[in-house]
Amino acid sequence: NNMLKRLAVAALAAVTVAGLSGCGAVTSGKRIIRISHAQSETHPEHLGLLAFKDYVEERLGDKYEVQIFPNEILGSAQKAIELTQTGAIDFVVAGTANLENFAGVYEIFSMPYLFDSEDVYKSVMEDTDYMEKIYESTDEAGFRVVTWYNAGTRNFYAKTPIRTPEDLKGKKIRVQQSPASVAMVNAFGAAAAPMGFGEVYTAIQQGVIDGAENNELALTNNKHGEVAKYYCYNKHQMVPDMLVANLKFLNGLSPEEYQIFKDAAALSTQVEMEEWDKSIEEAKQIAADNMGVEFIDVDVDAFKEKVLPLHQQMLDSNPKIRDLYEHIRKANENAKGGQTNADAS
Ligand code: GCU
Repeated sequence: NNMLKRLAVAALAAVTVAGLSGCGAVTSGKRIIRISHAQSETHPEHLGLLAFKDYVEERLGDKYEVQIFPNEILGSAQKAIELTQTGAIDFVVAGTANLENFAGVYEIFSMPYLFDSEDVYKSVMEDTDYMEKIYESTDEAGFRVVTWYNAGTRNFYAKTPIRTPEDLKGKKIRVQQSPASVAMVNAFGAAAAPMGFGEVYTAIQQGVIDGAENNELALTNNKHGEVAKYYCYNKHQMVPDMLVANLKFLNGLSPEEYQIFKDAAALSTQVEMEEWDKSIEEAKQIAADNMGVEFIDVDVDAFKEKVLPLHQQMLDSNPKIRDLYEHIRKANENAKGGQTNADAS
């Protein structure tokens, strides 16, 4: 932990210098590119980013060096987004929940039960032509998304079992710092406690909250399974993580360089998604066998019923999500159509 702290101090000092000089750090003639993320070094996102680094350095290594800072060393998602905004660092991986305050369209991913299946979710996210328009929506804030990462399906987990929506009543549940996620957890009948990801373990351990909601990797990679032993498959959200870049940095690249960074980003997504499926299987096994976590299958429709009115409420109050909502609704319909045809044949 001391080692981690020293690293963090050194990294921050370097970032501060870079921030003050108004451009990225340059040492030994190379431009250092800094990427911040919140996960451990075994997480699929870290592995995807290593592929990004290799791809860029193989082609532009005489000019650029990519440095990856895991574990929120450079600060929580919200802090790291600010650093990316000012150009103190160049990239950050952040869930869309953290982007809602910068571009209203990202609120849509906090809408519960938005996608009918993981397949629909992936097909929408992989529709690059459509998503590029969304990615530009934070340009005014000084940053732009360059690719997405799968962050699985989010489910509730707690110190005591959740088997029906009634079990959520009165429970204090951590959510991301996103107004839409706060509204969702409250609509489920629980009490939403927004806080940064890095604070969750201690908050559960000390009883400040009863539980949280996340994908299975939170149990193992972030060790939450040590303090919360019941994981409930109610499947309320699929919230993607985004690789976000400082816009001035992107605009300062030559067209050839820009293409290399975009290709590197696409490659990182491919690697991340392959690793994701493997690590979810592993995480479930480790959580069940080594940490004693019980995985509970529930009647998902009973949970859905509680929060479906949020769809119309969100559409009414936020016009920016309407196009994407319609786009996703059609994707859900098409998938159903496919199902029916397959059944008929
Ligand atoms: C997941 C996700 C992160 C997010 C975190 C959270 O781990 O990948 O981007 O920050 O959940 O709940 O805060």
